[in-house]
Amino acid sequence: MPQHLTLSRAARLIGVRRGALQSKIRSGELATFEGMVSVSDLQRVYPRASLEDSAGLERMEQIKEAAFARRLREHLLPSAEVLAARLTAMSDERVQVEARLEHYREIVEALRRKLREIGESGSPRAAAAGLLDWLERHLEPGPRSTQARPLRMQQDLLRIMTAHVQIKPSGHEFFVDGNDSLLEAALRAGLALDYGCSAGSCGKCKAKVLSGQVQKTRHSDIVLSAAEKNAGVMLMCCNTAVVDLVIEAREAHGAADMPLQDIEARVKTVSPIAEDMRLLHLQTPRSNRLRFLAGQSVSLELAGGERASYPVASCPCDDRNLQFHVRRRAGDAFAERVFDRLAVADGVRIEGPRGTFVLDEESSRPLVFIAVDAGFAPIKSLIEHAMALEAAESLRLVWIASAPGGHYLDNLCRAWGDALDDFAYVPLTLEGGASPETLERRLSPTLMKHAPLQDCDVYVAGPPALAQAAERLLLERGLPQAQLSVNRLET
Ligand code: FES
Repeated sequence: MPQHLTLSRAARLIGVRRGALQSKIRSGELATFEGMVSVSDLQRVYPRASLEDSAGLERMEQIKEAAFARRLREHLLPSAEVLAARLTAMSDERVQVEARLEHYREIVEALRRKLREIGESGSPRAAAAGLLDWLERHLEPGPRSTQARPLRMQQDLLRIMTAHVQIKPSGHEFFVDGNDSLLEAALRAGLALDYGCSAGSCGKCKAKVLSGQVQKTRHSDIVLSAAEKNAGVMLMCCNTAVVDLVIEAREAHGAADMPLQDIEARVKTVSPIAEDMRLLHLQTPRSNRLRFLAGQSVSLELAGGERASYPVASCPCDDRNLQFHVRRRAGDAFAERVFDRLAVADGVRIEGPRGTFVLDEESSRPLVFIAVDAGFAPIKSLIEHAMALEAAESLRLVWIASAPGGHYLDNLCRAWGDALDDFAYVPLTLEGGASPETLERRLSPTLMKHAPLQDCDVYVAGPPALAQAAERLLLERGLPQAQLSVNRLET
């Protein structure tokens, strides 16, 4: 059984964000060895995780119940073959560990006999007696090993239910649940792997297995060469992980790596979320999904030729179901059509993605999001992506509405705050009119209350004048320019 865990696995086991562990590593509370943490160190830093009635175990039970219920409902339990392979791998590992333990015990027994002989021979008696005494005490199971047992049991359970995958050369990690393909699981974890059709017919998601074992879950039209097969190449959209894996795969490292796409999608729903706001839900074809980074925008074109650019308001982890927040404005033909005549199943052409308002994924600084009015749309995408990545130490959302009732997804933001310990939501309304001055007056005291801005990454999105006012204020308050990203929205 491994005594060192990756940060992702450790965070999952204890029930905290990876960012929280990174913070403990930076403060010196938790040691790392080649990027891994030891079970005993985790036990020391999170002692409650070892108790039978601890919150950790309760969380584990909740995870199990939720996971079982969801998977049974959706028929997504890992297949019998995958479960059997995982159990076999774990049982092999356990046999090896037990053999090693037996070997150590024999050595210690031999050492004890030897020390007795030395002790009885009279030379150097006191030292030998002391050593013998020490050895007697340490042959009994120590309190540390007993304490760590529940944690290790939880670890075993997690390893049966999910497999851990590490990507080279980035070092990014994710877990594969149920029968999810490697590609689905990676997208859900917020990773931007290179792919195309998601259906085994383009070959863009080829990756190389460096260690571990995969199993094919769907047919693919792509025929791999003998050389590729020998090198461990497989398609991530057609395979799942049987055991923990290390793979070599291409990833997008920024907006410049995202290809421009042209996709014919369909309207799934158009729902009112405020008097002057509609939630437009588009669905792409199963084999032609939109690859984008959280925070990016696309052009939408309706059958009548109405065209407009909108930020995607949903997370790239669901690349087939895309959401947009459309506000009704005088003279906006696109919005008029969405409000009055757009129907379910109507075609919408999507072109994009565009824009560089994306998360700095290399940073683990606390994240502050400032949305003004419908600037909430790209901010929502960023927040959902940051939640999937679990890398930031904490998330804070300040949503400024230029008119009462402007927080059109207030319940969602409050639900995030209720569900996550490290998420704070601050709704503000500009009562004195939507001007840069009123924005500065309302935002300024909120900024004063929280963590020093110099320690944070800040993302601002909203109408140009108000976004610019927020930007000016943040820079005056000492936020380094490199830690500020601003999206001035025209829609
Ligand atoms: S994404 Fe096209 S084959 Fe996997």
